[in-house]
Amino acid sequence: MNAQVNARPINSIDARPESHPGAGRSSAKGTLYGRRKGKRLTARHESLIAKVLPAVAVDVSQPIDRAALFEAPVAALWLEIGFGSGEHLAALARAHPAAGFIGCEAFHNGVAKALALIEEGGLKNVRLYEGDARAVIEALPDGALDGVYLLYPDPWPKRRQRKRRFLSDEILQRLARVMRPGAELRFATDIDDNAGWTLARILRSRHFSWTPATARDWREPWQGWSGTRYETKALREQRKPAYFTFLRNDAPLQDAPLESASAAVPCERPAL
Ligand SMILES: C[S@@+](CC[C@H](N)C(=O)[O-])C[C@H]1O[C@@H](n2cnc3c(N)ncnc32)[C@H](O)[C@@H]1O
Repeated sequence: MNAQVNARPINSIDARPESHPGAGRSSAKGTLYGRRKGKRLTARHESLIAKVLPAVAVDVSQPIDRAALFEAPVAALWLEIGFGSGEHLAALARAHPAAGFIGCEAFHNGVAKALALIEEGGLKNVRLYEGDARAVIEALPDGALDGVYLLYPDPWPKRRQRKRRFLSDEILQRLARVMRPGAELRFATDIDDNAGWTLARILRSRHFSWTPATARDWREPWQGWSGTRYETKALREQRKPAYFTFLRNDAPLQDAPLESASAAVPCERPAL
C-alpha cells in the first residue's frame, strides 16, 4: 500500500504523456476550478484525515502499481472522479468486495466524509486521492482500469466557463490510455447542455463508442445504482438525469487524431 500523499499544488501538475504517443502532445497542466475547502472539519474528520488518509492515499509521484495498491489482488479496478462525499464510492466498494476502487476528490471536506464511510464500513478495497483526478490518470499504467465513473461533474453552465468542464477531448485521450478495451466510462448529468457537450466529444473520439439500444439505456441508471448527493438534489429540483455508458473500444492510441468519427468496435464488457 502506498502511504504518501502528494502535496504539490494542483496547478503545478504537468502530466505530459510519455508512454503513448497517440494520447496527445499538449500538456495536461491545468487549473483545478471549484472549492478545495468548506466549513471547518469536526474533530472526528480531522482525526480521520490525520490517521486514516495516509493509509489509503494513492501516491501519484510514481507510476501506480495496480498489484500493490491493495492488500490482495483485485479482480477489477475502477476509478471514480469527483466522488463528492463518497457515498457512491462506498456503496460500490461494499457491493463489490473483490474489486478495487480509486476515488479522487479535490474538496477536502468531501475526502473527510469519504474516510468516515471507509472506516465505518471497514472497507479494504478503496483508495483515495485528494486533488486533481488528472494526476491519478497520468500515474496509472496503460490499460489498468476496468471502468470509470464521472457522476454529475461540475456543469460550468456559463459559456465562458465551459472550458473548465472536466470532460474534454484531451481527457478522453488520456482516459483511453488507462482504460482497457471493453472498459466502461459511466457518466451522469442532470444538465442538458452538459449532456450534449459530452456526447459531442464522445462521438468525435475514436476511442469511445456510445451504442444505446433504446432510450432506457440513458434514461435509467446502472444496475445496482445507489445514487449520489447531487442526484438527490437534481431529482428534488425536478431535473431528469441522463446516464451514459461509453465503451472503450479497440482503437489504438497512435492512430487517434482528435477529431474523427467514433468507431464502434465490439469488445468484452466489464464485470461491474
Ligand atoms: C457537482 S459535484 C458532484 C459530486 C458527486 N459526484 C455527486 O454526484 O454527488 C462535482 C465534484 O467534482 C469534484 N471535482 C471537480 N473537478 C475535479 C478534479 N479535477 N479532480 C477531482 N475532483 C474534482 C468537485 O470538488 C466536486 O466535489
